[in-house]
Amino acid sequence: MQALSKGPIGVFDSGYGGLTVLRDLVTALPEYDYCYLGDSARAPYGNRSFATVYQYTLQCVQWFFKQGCPLVILACNTASAKALRTIQQNDLPKLAPHNRVLGVIRPTAEVIGQYTKKGKVGVLATQGTVTSDSYPLEIAKFFPDVTVFQEACPMWVPLIENNEHLSEGADYFVKKHVEAILKKDKDIDTLLLACTHYPLLRPVIERHLPKAVRLISQGEIVASSLASYLHRHPEISDRCTRKGELKFFTTDSAPDFDAQAAQFFGAPVRAYTVNLAGTVI
Ligand code: DGL
Repeated sequence: MQALSKGPIGVFDSGYGGLTVLRDLVTALPEYDYCYLGDSARAPYGNRSFATVYQYTLQCVQWFFKQGCPLVILACNTASAKALRTIQQNDLPKLAPHNRVLGVIRPTAEVIGQYTKKGKVGVLATQGTVTSDSYPLEIAKFFPDVTVFQEACPMWVPLIENNEHLSEGADYFVKKHVEAILKKDKDIDTLLLACTHYPLLRPVIERHLPKAVRLISQGEIVASSLASYLHRHPEISDRCTRKGELKFFTTDSAPDFDAQAAQFFGAPVRAYTVNLAGTVI
């Protein structure tokens, strides 16, 4: 039998957003190696169809497998909502039955009910994540008494990807959606940033949020869930290399990626451009 691959943990997002998750993964589990891929050439994914998000995500997952990653985290809610289940159920058994692909929605759903006192949670996300209904469905499995309200914020990712998130224009779109979700129920006391880009908007969102409403980002939740997963699955963690190395890849311009990425990751980043046929150029 061919030896199973060993390699870094793959972390994927449509663009920069997954770096907010990677930052927390590295803080919680610094001994592991990580390989980050942002599909910046095709971001944002948020308004794209199920078929397109699935096709793009699958291509990226295959790229990670070619790099030897035994485990890939889809650090993108949109990809987790629209592509993860099909990849896990249909593609993985054929492509790489011993590898694993995990998302960010289930680990978040498993704990989000612990934050709300009134049992009312607001979910701010891309159009794709909202339309999929993944959050209401997953949260209901763990917290059947929690009511979930959703608001799609289609302008937020483009504003962030274009580095306009602290501008006056961004403030307009943030206010609009924060007010809209809070109007859905006066007892919403927990707001989830269910898009890995949104932590960059945190200061702007907080300007429009009553003090009593708690704002939750996913990075630490996903990191603690991954730590527990690796502990429970030595057959996977033993194949994840541990030299504390980080590598960054983008499907678009590397200098453009580097210029933007630092504010998501919290430290300078040096990326390489990759084409998805597997060649680093
Ligand atoms: N960070 C992705 C998410 O968590 C952004 C999606 C997009 O590309 O629109 O949903």
